[in-house]
Amino acid sequence: MTNTKVTVSSASDPKDASRRVRRIVDKLARSRNLNIDSVRQALRDAIKRANDMRALGFLHYAGVLDLHLPDGTKVAIIPDWHIPAHDRQVTFMVKQWLAEFRPDIIILIGDAADMFGLSRWPKPPRVVANTQMELDETRRIVDEVIECSGCLHLFYILGNHEDRGRRSQIDPNGNVASLLDPTTNEPILNFHQLMGYKPGDPITFIYGAFEDGGFGGGILTNDEIKFIHGNKVRPKPGASPYAEADAAGKSIGQGHTHRYAKRARRNTKNGLIRSYEFGFLGDERHPYLGYAFNTNWHQGVASGHVHGGLLHIQMVPIKKIKNSAGQIQSVMLADGKLYQSSGY
Ligand SMILES: [Fe+2]
Repeated sequence: MTNTKVTVSSASDPKDASRRVRRIVDKLARSRNLNIDSVRQALRDAIKRANDMRALGFLHYAGVLDLHLPDGTKVAIIPDWHIPAHDRQVTFMVKQWLAEFRPDIIILIGDAADMFGLSRWPKPPRVVANTQMELDETRRIVDEVIECSGCLHLFYILGNHEDRGRRSQIDPNGNVASLLDPTTNEPILNFHQLMGYKPGDPITFIYGAFEDGGFGGGILTNDEIKFIHGNKVRPKPGASPYAEADAAGKSIGQGHTHRYAKRARRNTKNGLIRSYEFGFLGDERHPYLGYAFNTNWHQGVASGHVHGGLLHIQMVPIKKIKNSAGQIQSVMLADGKLYQSSGY
């Protein structure tokens, strides 16, 4: 895997780790009809590997995190949410889906927070920005997602929007961005600290190798598909992760472009290479997304199942329809069930 620089928020307590494994096993055994002994062993191996990499149990990881997920693991992938410029009706529908899908792992692929208030782009004069409100709203929704899905762990890959905080500190003086909080020994205004999570919470924030957001960190699952926020931007849906997969020689799943597509091709060296871009969950009418005109953005989520050692991905596009009352509604079809938002 890619070289990783690991930073940790605090040392992990071994008792905490074993308690965590026990909780995970109990939960899985209750919710699945799987052989408990083999699930327990597979999960212990997976978590031991993750802990060897100092992944689970730590709040903060810089680089590409290697994650080996055992067969039977369910994953939910959620793209650019842009809270508080999120589509509220769609968000409610996605939470309903998560509550029924019961993923073991959730991956937020970056830009879950918009951080409009810290943007360096010129702002429309009448649009009010309140950075604390943006952080509070993001925290509230991430907590809700962990709670309603019953997931074991949520991985939050930082996007370029979360990195707006760090960049706004670099602007006046780069030294400000590297000041450490004397109690936590973390950069004083880093994103996970502003969100208020503590080591031991079921969440890991994934930064780039230089503790930046957006363009370096990610998750490599089962040595095969790498999830990143996204570096390359191409105008056609599917072309950005395709270019990234070409360069990386690995399957890629990304957000960032807000476009929605999947492609696959076979190469002689690595077999089948898949590439996905997962769309977004923002509301294009929100003033924070005022730069969104004439877009080819598309809403969606994705689900994953690990089988035969591979993470298989199902794209779940979200479509807008006009219902019989003439109202616009969002609709998605996941695992054979139709989810519908309220009308707009
Ligand atoms: Fe985005």
